[in-house]
Amino acid sequence: MKDPAALHTWHKGRYHTSAQLYAAPGRVNLIGEHTDYAEGFVMPAAIDFATLAAISPRADGQVVIYAENFAEEVAFPADALPAVRAGHWSDYPLGVMAVLAGEGYEIPPLSLSLWGDVPLGSGLSSSAAVEVATATAILGLLGVGIPGPQLARLCLRAENEFVGANCGIMDQFISANGKADHALLLDCRDLSFRLAPIPEDVALVIANTMVKHSVAGAGYTTRRAEVEQACAILAAHRPEIKFLRDATVADLEAWGHEIPPNSLKRARHVVTENMRTVAAAGALLRGDLTGLGRLMHEAHLSYSRDFEGSCAEADTMVALAQDLPGLIGARLTGGGFGGCTINLVEKDYAAAFAAALRERYRQATGINPEIHICHASAGAHQIV
Ligand code: GLA
Repeated sequence: MKDPAALHTWHKGRYHTSAQLYAAPGRVNLIGEHTDYAEGFVMPAAIDFATLAAISPRADGQVVIYAENFAEEVAFPADALPAVRAGHWSDYPLGVMAVLAGEGYEIPPLSLSLWGDVPLGSGLSSSAAVEVATATAILGLLGVGIPGPQLARLCLRAENEFVGANCGIMDQFISANGKADHALLLDCRDLSFRLAPIPEDVALVIANTMVKHSVAGAGYTTRRAEVEQACAILAAHRPEIKFLRDATVADLEAWGHEIPPNSLKRARHVVTENMRTVAAAGALLRGDLTGLGRLMHEAHLSYSRDFEGSCAEADTMVALAQDLPGLIGARLTGGGFGGCTINLVEKDYAAAFAAALRERYRQATGINPEIHICHASAGAHQIV
């Protein structure tokens, strides 16, 4: 991560005052894909790519937001902030402000500088990192502390209601509540969670297929609609099925003939993915890395074949990893249709693994992938 002191210096240079500094991380999901909006289970970890936010009060009634990454500033009167999105990077911080204002927090005149190194469009939750960093900074400026799960819910509302992306709670939750050296098994129904230590000798190798991912894209939206269609058909038979979290493989066998074939496949992925995710957390907690790796592999096949949420490049990246020394498990991570694979790798092999995977992928696809050896990191926090 870039030196936060640099962001502070830039902020001070532009706004002539000292700032409070905050950070909120991106994430990688080890297992549990497209289960969050079905009120199921996910097991992400925060990573050491993050959005940093520098914030200071102003005396001129303005809210001024500067994005270092785009070298661009926007400014609005604090008492007349935009109420609708503009299709611009500022939608993310402004969406958070709109939700906080709706909750009764008066947004004071402020200067906010944002800088991030979560790769954009790579399925590592750059948008959640911006939202959670903004919310943490504003609440810090206001001197208000709210519990991490509640912070995540507010940021999810910014994404759903203001930005207009119909995603679930996973990304905002882990960005707000991650813990260094741990993965987090989250029950997306009640937001209870359990931390599972990632063993000292295991590395998170994140390999970018370089195929752009977007939760605002048609693929994510269509899949979510298919999942919800399957759920509605099952609920007609068993009203206690409110979300696919409540459905079983037996339900799919009993009523599957009524569900359109694609929706049935998506539902089979979600129902079995919930089981795999809970089992994977158990394996990680027991130190059964072989079991964890096998579940990750099964999860990728289900994501690719039943959910059809992968892409040729991601399938290739996962396949090319299989016989490399040190691999524990590999799968496509995040919302799908591109983005990154997560490879759990024995630490001693991580550098050689990354080099070999890069070379194999380049030869197979002609694409030069970005590969990062990451650590599970802390969730949102104040730096100074
Ligand atoms: C994106 C969304 C999440 C989740 C994943 C798929 O990251 O933002 O809410 O649905 O896709 O697991």
